[in-house]
Amino acid sequence: MSRASLEKSPHDVAAMFDRVARRYDVTNTVLSLSQDRQWRKAVADALQVHAGQTVLDLAAGTGTSSEPFTDAGVHTVPCDFSLGMLRVGRTRRPDMPFVAGDGTRLPFADASFDAVTISFGLRNVVDVDACLRELYRVTKPGGRVVVCEFSRPTWAPFRTVYTEYLMKALPKVATAVSSNPEAYVYLAESIRAWPDQPGLAAKLQDAGWNTVQWRNLSGGIVALHRGIK
Ligand SMILES: C[S@@+](CC[C@H](N)C(=O)[O-])C[C@H]1O[C@@H](n2cnc3c(N)ncnc32)[C@H](O)[C@@H]1O
Repeated sequence: MSRASLEKSPHDVAAMFDRVARRYDVTNTVLSLSQDRQWRKAVADALQVHAGQTVLDLAAGTGTSSEPFTDAGVHTVPCDFSLGMLRVGRTRRPDMPFVAGDGTRLPFADASFDAVTISFGLRNVVDVDACLRELYRVTKPGGRVVVCEFSRPTWAPFRTVYTEYLMKALPKVATAVSSNPEAYVYLAESIRAWPDQPGLAAKLQDAGWNTVQWRNLSGGIVALHRGIK
């Protein structure tokens, strides 16, 4: 499935995640060489929420990105539009309040959450700007957003090696471990097409977020962007 065809249809995006749901978590850990756990911990540190607060984890998939918050006593709402991912999530973590919802039309009232976050999801949303505005709408004034997304490695020689990995090795590894290797060809393409760190910061600002900053993880393979409402 090419990026071009996915761009046209949120339904195709949801269907693609329905198909990878069963082996999603194990594939992630293998493809990221187990770095994913460290990235998730960094998101929790950046969001700075505490027990008793309410957090929206948008594009939560199977709920793996919501776990650090739930386990710290934060009331966390994992929301996603792939029913397949939500089903796997509910089986894994029946204690978490999974909600089906589209990130471009969130089923929540204005100013419902102390903080909002989205990990490895924004790149998949068909209308990124609308999603960032929706996240802003449902956040309380003074609340923060943390976006965790693949980005652009900062060191040029490493960037070249990494791009080779993305385009050549990753689809091969995915064929061995994933239930839908096609989705990982899409993953590689979508990472290459995604804005770099300043580009994403500008999008957050355009959606209304203030004091936008970012921090690179694993040499810029991933970036955490933070903003305040
Ligand atoms: C790569 S998974 C990330 C899951 C989880 N956040 C994690 O870190 O493991 C991306 C998720 O984005 C969801 N997604 C994409 N577009 C969406 C939208 N418009 N609304 C809600 N979820 C969306 C997909 O269904 C998928 O579950």
